[in-house]
Amino acid sequence: MLGDLKRDAEKRGLLTAPGFIDLHAHLREPGFEESETIATGSRAALAGGFTTICAMPNTEPAIDSPGLVAELIARGEAARAARVLPIAAITRGRNGKELADLVELAAAGAVAFSDDGSPVADARLFRNALEYARAAGRPILEHPQDLTLSAGGVMHEGVVSARLGLPGMPAAAEESAVARDLALAKLTGGRLHLSHLSTAGAVELVRHAKAGGLAVSAEVTPHHLALTDEWVAGSRALAWEDGGPRVAPFHTATKVNPPLRTAADVRACWAGLMDGTIDAIATDHAPHASIRKDVEYQEAAFGISVFETAIPLLLAGVAAGWGTWERVVGALTAGPARVLGIELPKNDLVVIDPKVAWTPTATSLRSLGKNTPLLGRSLTGRVVAAVVDGELRHELALA
Ligand code: DOR
Repeated sequence: MLGDLKRDAEKRGLLTAPGFIDLHAHLREPGFEESETIATGSRAALAGGFTTICAMPNTEPAIDSPGLVAELIARGEAARAARVLPIAAITRGRNGKELADLVELAAAGAVAFSDDGSPVADARLFRNALEYARAAGRPILEHPQDLTLSAGGVMHEGVVSARLGLPGMPAAAEESAVARDLALAKLTGGRLHLSHLSTAGAVELVRHAKAGGLAVSAEVTPHHLALTDEWVAGSRALAWEDGGPRVAPFHTATKVNPPLRTAADVRACWAGLMDGTIDAIATDHAPHASIRKDVEYQEAAFGISVFETAIPLLLAGVAAGWGTWERVVGALTAGPARVLGIELPKNDLVVIDPKVAWTPTATSLRSLGKNTPLLGRSLTGRVVAAVVDGELRHELALA
């Protein structure tokens, strides 16, 4: 069945790839089901080509006990959409104070550990976490951010934030945290994976660490590979486009952490992806109910709903010559599989129509999170089919 589907798709000029693996997704269940559920999120993931997704534990309660890990696995299986792999919290309740039982959590099926949304600010605790994660044979997925530097910031600190009069988060907040995390990975031998890198300086630090032989890995998101801080000011031009459409400034769908950076940072993220500094493209799919986004910019929650628009953004970057499709596919498949230490699922497949134009709307998105600044903007390229374990679980009938 898989072979036939693949041959037929390729004959029709469609692209095929192994199922994409997303290292970083927020499914919001339990606790925030008005923003997303395991069922809606795993279906939206499939519509975006992700046949395996890793669920971040910043839920309520946080996924910090073996029982909760088991429950998440059961609910993911019941949804019969994308395969859901649980990430467990590093610290109890994600409070940054006391380590969770990492070895037991791994035994229950946690594929990695993260307090994503919050960094582990206490360096000694983070050192211990890396040591226990090493014993558990799992990576730590760290959100690198110095909260004392980023406090109060709602966008990237630079000329655009100055023009808009919004408090910014400097690139140094990310880069100083990356430097600390790399030093502790070197000290402990623990497997460090850096989440959502967004600055040229952070990419350079990882490049340097890898050149020195450190076994570290890193991811970038589709939005940090395509959008810039000018989007907060109302631009809707992708990083490689001049001029282009504009909308009113301060749209809260542009508010995300780490923030959208400059075009030079976007370029550096692509360069890192192309030379192997960056191992994976991960969505950081962060759906939010409108109650958290339809408020003033400073009050709005951080996060973009990403699953269903990731592939067209990446295809646009490739069309602009900023990267190659082969490398993008590698960073969506073999790269994340390596980070998790798993084999690529053999019977997963994604089919993409690279030429079809479509416009995401609140009703067309399967995710409950409609919080993307791409709503109403024409995109090119769409996932038309996704197969999980040999079963066709997503199919889009194109007009
Ligand atoms: O924008 C973000 N949203 N960044 C994070 O680190 C957390 C995420 C969320 O959970 O909404």
